[in-house]
Amino acid sequence: MEKGIQVVIPTMGMHYDPQYFPEPEKFDPERFSEEAKSKRHHYVYLPFGEGPRICIGNKTLYIIIGTLLFITFLCDYRIEYSVGTIVDSFRLSMYK
Ligand code: HEM
Repeated sequence: MEKGIQVVIPTMGMHYDPQYFPEPEKFDPERFSEEAKSKRHHYVYLPFGEGPRICIGNKTLYIIIGTLLFITFLCDYRIEYSVGTIVDSFRLSMYK
């Protein structure tokens, strides 16, 4: 390939290609298990690009998503000590 030639990489086409992602419309987190990932070519999943110009936000984004999921969890559930938990009275007094 000559230098300067523009290349379009159809990432969405690859992400929805049943050859790589069977039943592409189905929510299936197992597609991203280490075993499933090892069975397909590394470059068929490119949401953040690849190589020296890869998105710098990709790691940050996982932290943001993780934090949002954790906040959602805290809003929906009440967290309490279990019966067997020994509570440090000094630390507890700090929050009173
Ligand atoms: C769902 C969220 C995001 C997606 C899907 C996404 C995707 C991408 C893609 C495909 C590229 C081009 C990579 C390439 O040229 O090969 C890119 C570049 C970039 N992204 Fe993101 N991104 C996301 C979020 C973010 C966030 C949160 C930040 C900042 C914290 C960010 C900062 C950047 C920067 C600075 C570049 C340019 C990197 C470079 O050209 O050297 N992105 N992103």
